[in-house]
Amino acid sequence: MRYTTKTGALPAANTACVVVSRSAAPEIAAPLGVEREVELALAHTKGAAGAVARVLRDGKPSLLLVVGGEDPKGQKASQGRGERDFRKSMSAAARALASANVADATIAVDGFDVPGQDAYWKARAALAAVSDAAYRFTAYKSKKPETPKLRRVSVHAGDRAGVAKAVRHAQALRAGLAFAKDLANQPPNVCDPAFIAEQTTRHLAADNLTVQVVDEEQMAELGMGAYLSVTRGSDKPAKMIIADYRGGGDGTAPTVLIGKGITFDTGGINLKSSAGMGEMKFDMCGAAAVLGAVKAAAEAKAAINVVAIAAAAENMPGGRASRPSDIVTTMSGKTVEILNTDAEGRLVLCDALTFAERFKPRAVVDVATLTGAQVTALGSHASALYANDDDLAAALVGAGERAHDRFWRMPLWDDYQDALKSEFADMKNIGGRAAGSITAACFLSRFAKYPWAHLDIAGAAYAGGGKRATGRPTAALFEYLLESTTRAAAGAGR
Ligand code: BES
Ligand code: MN
Ligand code: ZN
Repeated sequence: MRYTTKTGALPAANTACVVVSRSAAPEIAAPLGVEREVELALAHTKGAAGAVARVLRDGKPSLLLVVGGEDPKGQKASQGRGERDFRKSMSAAARALASANVADATIAVDGFDVPGQDAYWKARAALAAVSDAAYRFTAYKSKKPETPKLRRVSVHAGDRAGVAKAVRHAQALRAGLAFAKDLANQPPNVCDPAFIAEQTTRHLAADNLTVQVVDEEQMAELGMGAYLSVTRGSDKPAKMIIADYRGGGDGTAPTVLIGKGITFDTGGINLKSSAGMGEMKFDMCGAAAVLGAVKAAAEAKAAINVVAIAAAAENMPGGRASRPSDIVTTMSGKTVEILNTDAEGRLVLCDALTFAERFKPRAVVDVATLTGAQVTALGSHASALYANDDDLAAALVGAGERAHDRFWRMPLWDDYQDALKSEFADMKNIGGRAAGSITAACFLSRFAKYPWAHLDIAGAAYAGGGKRATGRPTAALFEYLLESTTRAAAGAGR
């Protein structure tokens, strides 16, 4: 898929399909000789976000999609309503495009009024909808389903510079998201830690992006006793994959992103119940998202340094597996009593957090499908955000808002830390029944010796009846990385 810009007179645009707002439709109806049809389309889409009417004609363009704007049934002019309706409209238009028999299309964004947002924002939102609607994962269908014909989408707007930038960013993000989703949708008999290492090397490595893989022997030398305790029951060796992108100056401290990469989480000796266990192939979505984000940053040639660390391992029961009540020593030197082998994410992450110190990071963000409690608290509309730094938290919340891939900040008060007291070791790896997402974050916070944030993405990582990877929060992380260049230039914040 290729994204481009278009300016000049819309009816003359050399394109198979034009996507227009209701307000812009009449203008182009006359020159194209479809006044009657557009009148009907306007009646059909009157004031309904997400309504799309098709107008067919002979010649080029052969298809017009007239798209409804604001939804009058929606909430009363609440903040962000225009944005919500616009995204809804663009999703519907993108789905129509993906199922239409056209190879290229032009979306005219100027006709859509989104209060407070410019052409850059509208182009990003429109192309994000296209990326999403056109994505398919068909690797294991012996009879390949029909894939969208769409190959090229142009954005038409007066603000050429703004849209050109949006097109570059959308294109880069599309590639990063596709990498993340492809990895996460793979079955766990294929996608093991070595597969993540191999795919990362194949699809990310470039002149300014090096990929390194730390194996179990090196982990043992580093003293990563917590990480190694998780993989003991598995026949698949653990791998810690490091993708190091250098787009910024030599002397600038990198942002480090760490992703939980449990390629399958059975729970270990604290075996999960069978209902829905298959979803635990998505327990590597944090790793997929951080790799996707660094790929997007590299594709966008962002002027920053970013290190993505995928902490990959498989959590299985077995004769060598960790037992509840085992005590392990982390890379930091702190000891952990493992009272539940199903709380394995924090065990791989705590050692990856300590490992990250060697990069002298300006900030570290870890991303993990960490707790069922996060899903109970927030569902899938927002991931839980925890941070020891207010600037970093605010930057992430803002980026998530703009990418429509949102975070909600949760407390990390010391009061919650008490739940991790262990009789025998420095801490245990579970709190009580209460506040499960928070106590998991409290555990991680003990290993973060720099500005740090943690994203619990258990609810957002996969969705739908068929349960597909969403790629979240790749988009929000990419946004955060793009914006951190401007923040650094202004000498402010994280
Ligand atoms: N991978 C799971 C968390 C999870 C649950 C992700 C549902 C996505 C959907 C994690 O490793 C886990 O098992 N967490 C336990 C922690 C508990 C044992 C303290 C949980 O949430 O039940
Ligand atoms: Mn688990
Ligand atoms: Zn897990």
